[in-house]
Amino acid sequence: MKLLQIDSSARSHPHGEVIRRDLSTTTFPQITDDWNATYLEDAKLTPAQRSYLSTSNALIEELEAAETVVIGAPMYNFSIPSSLKAWIDQTVRLGKTIGYGPNGPHGLLTKKKVVVITSRGGDYEKGTPREAFDFQEPYLRHILGFIGLTDVTFIHAEKQAREEAAVSFAGAAERIGGVVIDQNQQVAL
Ligand SMILES: Cc1cc2nc3c(=O)[nH]c(=O)nc-3n(C[C@H](O)[C@H](O)[C@H](O)COP(=O)(O)O)c2cc1C
Repeated sequence: MKLLQIDSSARSHPHGEVIRRDLSTTTFPQITDDWNATYLEDAKLTPAQRSYLSTSNALIEELEAAETVVIGAPMYNFSIPSSLKAWIDQTVRLGKTIGYGPNGPHGLLTKKKVVVITSRGGDYEKGTPREAFDFQEPYLRHILGFIGLTDVTFIHAEKQAREEAAVSFAGAAERIGGVVIDQNQQVAL
């Protein structure tokens, strides 16, 4: 698929920057015993340890630099795709995105907006029989909050394997428009 994005609003952000990270075309290192290097002082790292941590460093720098983060996440087996879990494993890191004080851990990434857009084959809305099987939104809310990202908006395209898929998709697209308008209004204030 080739995507052409045309922006024509007079109030667009010509100096804004969009960083895109497609997790389906990237493989991150597995978390192994080498992850213990995250507890060492930078100056004490061997070249191999430095290389192992370079992916994590790059992903965290990217996250720190962003004011708004948009995450696209289909539901896989009631939760998130393993590629997104691999990204989380690289970005949740003591000393970088989590601090530890007398009251325990606290998130270090603050003042960012996060929008998570999900799609699911079934229907996990409140009051539906599958509501309790949604391990996607509760997990993402918790882990994002754990690193300080507490301003999180979820937009779900439910029922994508059902007849109502198109209607549900259109509803989600409309809600995305609402989030964009909200953000612009905040910029204008
Ligand atoms: C490996 C895999 C596992 C899935 N598991 C679930 C699931 O547990 N619950 C569900 O409602 N849909 C599940 N689905 C359906 C997807 O969530 C649905 O098709 C979604 O629209 C895919 O998003 P995408 O088109 O952005 O990739 C699964 C799909 C795949 C490929």
